[in-house]
Amino acid sequence: MTHNDSPLLQARGLTKHYGMRLGCADVSFDLYEGEVLAVVGESGSGKSTLLGLLSSEVEPTAGSVHYRMRDGAVRDLFALSEAERRFLLRTDWGFVRQDARDGLRMGVSAGANVGERLMAVGARHYGRIRESALDWLGRVEIEADRIDDTPASFSGGMRQRLQIARNLVTRPRLVFMDEPTSGLDVSVQARLLDLLRGLVADLGIAVVIVTHDLAVARLLSHRIMVMRQGRVIETGLTDQVLDDPHEAYTQLLVSSVLAA
Ligand SMILES: Nc1ncnc2c1ncn2[C@@H]1O[C@H](COP(=O)(O)OP(=O)(O)OP(=O)(O)O)[C@@H](O)[C@H]1O
Ligand SMILES: [Mg+2]
Repeated sequence: MTHNDSPLLQARGLTKHYGMRLGCADVSFDLYEGEVLAVVGESGSGKSTLLGLLSSEVEPTAGSVHYRMRDGAVRDLFALSEAERRFLLRTDWGFVRQDARDGLRMGVSAGANVGERLMAVGARHYGRIRESALDWLGRVEIEADRIDDTPASFSGGMRQRLQIARNLVTRPRLVFMDEPTSGLDVSVQARLLDLLRGLVADLGIAVVIVTHDLAVARLLSHRIMVMRQGRVIETGLTDQVLDDPHEAYTQLLVSSVLAA
């Protein structure tokens, strides 16, 4: 196992204005390998904007994101070519979308949804791709006999699990997740969270997870950032922030007065 003390990702002064409207302002943090960072805050606080900036899908108004590539080179994300960015998104990164329909190809089979990601990193052998797809469907508790069905015929929870399999099969180094469990009923949510926690720990991947559910943050994350009106107002180790919040707003969040 290689140990690397330098951050995987460094965000500095990240700011996004949509015309006159503020998306997020002056967000800075480091993310290390294997670290799970939760971004919490009420609706409209800038969480999805921040994920978009970090994954280089949204162009910043100001600020930078540096990412340490597999070869060790630290690159400015916004200086990468479009092809390099797309390559990162297909291989080094995963992105679990809030709406699974945005993260899956709804018209192709579950097996192809997983296999496609493997092919993007060079897998060519059909038998082995199908074997990996089956293995991953099993890990996310989708029955093997659903492999040839399209996600259109899946339930919301199954789609979300398929999306997780599709994103993790290539063992990405970094996964972005936007409210991966919202819209699912409570028992499905709990199982999915358990599953996610296990996979993330086993694979040692770094995660930035956006959620307005503090229970999700507590269960999955090592560190937490609390956002309000586009700004980070409190940050620290998850248990410390949630057990002993310093900011009045975080105290309100924790006492669930503002629970969404
Ligand atoms: N494409 C856009 N054009 C204009 N304004 C936008 C756009 N995307 C986001 N915003 C604005 O930026 C602010 C932050 O939005 P964002 O979607 O990042 O919040 P959020 O924390 O993800 O909210 P939610 O929990 O509801 O998903 C909001 O005021 C929103 O209206
Ligand atoms: Mg959002």
